[in-house]
Amino acid sequence: MKRTKYCGLINGDDVGKEVTLQGWVNRRRDLGGLVFIDIRDREGLVQAVVAPDSKAFAEADKVRSEYVVEVTGMVRKRPPEQVNSDLATGAYEIDVKEMRILNSAKTPPFAIDASWRGEKDPTDNVSEDLRLKYRYLDIRRKSVLQRIILRSKVEKAIWDFLIAEGFIQVETPFLTRSTPEGARDFLVPSRLEPGKFYALPQSPQLFKQMLMVAGVDRYFQIARCFRDEDLRADRQPDFTQLDLEMSFVDQEDVWRLNEKLLSYVFKETLGIDLPLPLPRLPYREAMERYGSDKPDTRFAMEIKDAGDIFASSNFSAFRSVLQSGGTVRALVAPAELSRKKIAELEETAKRYGAKGLAWLKVTTDGLRGGVSKFVDEKAIRDLGAKPGETVLFVADDWSKALESLGQVRLKLAEILNIEKSGWNFLWVTEFPLLEWDEDSEFWTYMHHPFTSPYAEDVPLLQSNPGKVRALAYDLVLNGSEVGGGSIRIHDLQLQKKMFSVLGISEEEAQEKFGFFLEALSYGAPPHGGIAWGLDRLLAMMSGASSIRDTIPFPKNQSGRDPLTGAPAVVTEEQLRELHLRLVE
Ligand code: AMO
Ligand code: AMP
Repeated sequence: MKRTKYCGLINGDDVGKEVTLQGWVNRRRDLGGLVFIDIRDREGLVQAVVAPDSKAFAEADKVRSEYVVEVTGMVRKRPPEQVNSDLATGAYEIDVKEMRILNSAKTPPFAIDASWRGEKDPTDNVSEDLRLKYRYLDIRRKSVLQRIILRSKVEKAIWDFLIAEGFIQVETPFLTRSTPEGARDFLVPSRLEPGKFYALPQSPQLFKQMLMVAGVDRYFQIARCFRDEDLRADRQPDFTQLDLEMSFVDQEDVWRLNEKLLSYVFKETLGIDLPLPLPRLPYREAMERYGSDKPDTRFAMEIKDAGDIFASSNFSAFRSVLQSGGTVRALVAPAELSRKKIAELEETAKRYGAKGLAWLKVTTDGLRGGVSKFVDEKAIRDLGAKPGETVLFVADDWSKALESLGQVRLKLAEILNIEKSGWNFLWVTEFPLLEWDEDSEFWTYMHHPFTSPYAEDVPLLQSNPGKVRALAYDLVLNGSEVGGGSIRIHDLQLQKKMFSVLGISEEEAQEKFGFFLEALSYGAPPHGGIAWGLDRLLAMMSGASSIRDTIPFPKNQSGRDPLTGAPAVVTEEQLRELHLRLVE
């Protein structure tokens, strides 16, 4: 068996030559004696024609969609009126001399052929579970295959760039002890040590830090991570990071390196030029202007402070919030919103913790409706609101007011169909090191417990923990967090202090991370790094609506794999070996 060319690559140079092609039958048509067979491989399809007097006719008569065939024949130009300009090979066809059926195929549960003919793909509307159950057929579709190819190209570009920059790729273990990234661990019971468990890594965090202690200096890995979380469109239980770490660096070094890498990857794979340097936005400013620590800056519609407007008003609900130290924030919607739309937006606000969503309309003869009677028209105009627009307000504590309005802002952009285009990357910087955890009534880390505070903020660790800024940063693209990292604590004493602020006792720290604290005591260099959520980045690069579309074999939204049926029951024998018994 000798294939001489991919079907999709047949071109003018092949005219008059004999080729042998192997692939799948995309479609077979019988037109008055002549049989037309579109033969497809991963590069595309080409039309093969079998004449009634051809030796191949009997075979051609038998083939059906998705049969695997081999054909040999002469490439010829199609008559001008038969050229199909939607296809790369649309000006040519194969005059089939011989044909062999290499395998038959059952009728697929959904159509594969349309995607390759440049037509609208009806399979896009097929249920995702059915597509995942037959993922190997789904991948035969052009759009799915193309995303997998993009993934390969992006990973190659990452390798090329980082190796040239002196990075060393190092693999870290899957069976390990968990490191705290804030999610639940997947556990693997030990057969050899009854009652003990490995954990699958939530990220290679501690290993990459130990590689810096080891003197590797510049590490990267396209690493699989495992987190037992509630799933969403942008979360999978196992997902992929581009993980990297560098020694003797500050934040600037990490940002610059990552910006160059991003621009290289975008240029190499999509041909897109990213303007550098990327904008930076301190966390506080991101929250105040966009109500989000991952702002979508493709459109403006920024949040405004409306505290002064309500400070002396008679609207008691807002006045009391202000009196108890809260804030009132406003969003100007560039449209007159119906009551129905406002109700929809209020529901969004409430879902994110707001008590309500107050509103008013600006008209050419003054303010109308909602809370208009409580406020002064000039003050509303000063917010930037013009006649024909609607102003929305939330009164609450700083984070609830801003977070809920941030979500209203996104919803509004959707409702109003606001144009969103471009590749708006930015760094969100100066995150708080700690946040107050209502449940445990303790300070907890915002990124992870190995993140360094700003040196000048260290004294605040005891006196005012909420004010300590972290040397941590997120990489944001069009409103999605596609990466996160930090400069790490390399000083053992500071790491111990951090644990104590987090309410982790010395014994607990020893028990959980003793091995890591030990490593820090052997001359750890200053270091820092980042991890990109590669699936998320790929989803955005390929215009996919969920990261499931960019992962070759993903789990569905409930964490199941419809293809293999995982998770699945195991035998009594397997459980016994692992010293496990199921409780009802
Ligand atoms: P973090 O937990 O922020 O940082 O993860 C880095 C990036 O990984 C992506 N991500 C996910 N993608 C898909 N499914 C998930 N369940 C999921 N969880 C996270 C996000 C996120 O920005 N060790 C640190 C990195 C560091 O400090 O260097 C870490 O894992 O895009
Ligand atoms: P009430 O006076 O409670 O009837 O509320 C009047 C309007 O103000 C309603 O539209 C509420 O949704 C809104 N509202 C009340 N409290 C708040 C709040 N804290 N933030 C935003 N809107 C509010």
